[in-house]
Amino acid sequence: ATTTATVTLTGAGGQIGYALLFRIASGQLLGPDTRIRLNLLEIPAGLGSAEGAALELSDAAFPLLDAVSVTDDAGTAFDGANVALLVGSRPRGPGMERADLLAANGAIFGPQGAALNAGAASDIRVVVVGNPANTNALIAAANAPDIPRERFTALTRLDHNRAVGLLAGKLAVPAGEIDGVTIWGNHSATQYPDLSHATASGKPVLDLVDESWVHEEYIPRVANRGAEIIEVRGSSSVASAASATIDHVHDWVNGHRGRWTSVALPSDGSYGVPDGLVSSFPAESVDGAWRIVDGLDVDEFSRDRIDRSVAELATEREQVQALGLL
Ligand code: NAI
Repeated sequence: ATTTATVTLTGAGGQIGYALLFRIASGQLLGPDTRIRLNLLEIPAGLGSAEGAALELSDAAFPLLDAVSVTDDAGTAFDGANVALLVGSRPRGPGMERADLLAANGAIFGPQGAALNAGAASDIRVVVVGNPANTNALIAAANAPDIPRERFTALTRLDHNRAVGLLAGKLAVPAGEIDGVTIWGNHSATQYPDLSHATASGKPVLDLVDESWVHEEYIPRVANRGAEIIEVRGSSSVASAASATIDHVHDWVNGHRGRWTSVALPSDGSYGVPDGLVSSFPAESVDGAWRIVDGLDVDEFSRDRIDRSVAELATEREQVQALGLL
């Protein structure tokens, strides 16, 4: 049976938005049996770009795309939303302190959380891409008291996919042979890409690579891959970020291959991560909901790395609390 979903995309006039729109409309986000209504939210300065993208969507004549609307009003954009992709955010400007960045984004994600609370559909699923993604998701969730908090997630799937891709390259196997990789913590350079439980074609990865390579080359390269892309490409990750966003929502709704993927979601206290912090975990999609994979052994090295990234998230939470954003 064919259903229809309303998908709201913020920052639709930006780079990731442009890379996302055509994949959403082609059916890659929700699958071939779901028709799509697209609501595009922008700030006034971005409306022209979003409207232009909407014209191009018409010109692509996607069979599954029923309607596209463009607005700068959050209430209109989130009305009836089943899926919200929160991509638009305030980038760090020259001389901007971390606290200024958190405050500027709080002014975006607080009202957007409230608008979701007021108008989204009861099955709403939210993924925050705009940085600082984890804490922006925390703010949005705190401003949407009627929506179950586990519907608010942040994107660490790009980090996960980077971790899989770089490992597959090292081992010279297809990415599809890799399983059991986890990104823990914050979508920042403190993140911990964990290979403790990873396998390649079913074999434990730690039997195939040197520990020194993992610690000294692999982990820093995954964690700093965004900077590497900027250096080589002269521009930030865009298509890979859009691709990871598609994967995240697709797998949330439809399930995934492999044992688990990585998702930043509000902690239930698992693995010693304080309750409520939006932190990345190994998670599997079960009947349309994320479930943190439990019972994994965490060795001393992993414990320390997880704790360090979680401490950064706790500091961000304290900062936004101090700003009155929660
Ligand atoms: P961009 O600057 O090209 O686009 C952002 C768009 O958001 C702009 O068109 C802007 O007008 C719009 N916008 C700003 N405030 C808005 C608001 N309140 N409501 C609606 N739209 C708003 O940036 P790009 O390259 O598309 O990246 C978007 C975000 O994604 C950035 O914060 C970036 O840091 C983040 N990002 C996150 C990744 C992740 O893995 N979590 C990976 C890559 C990027």
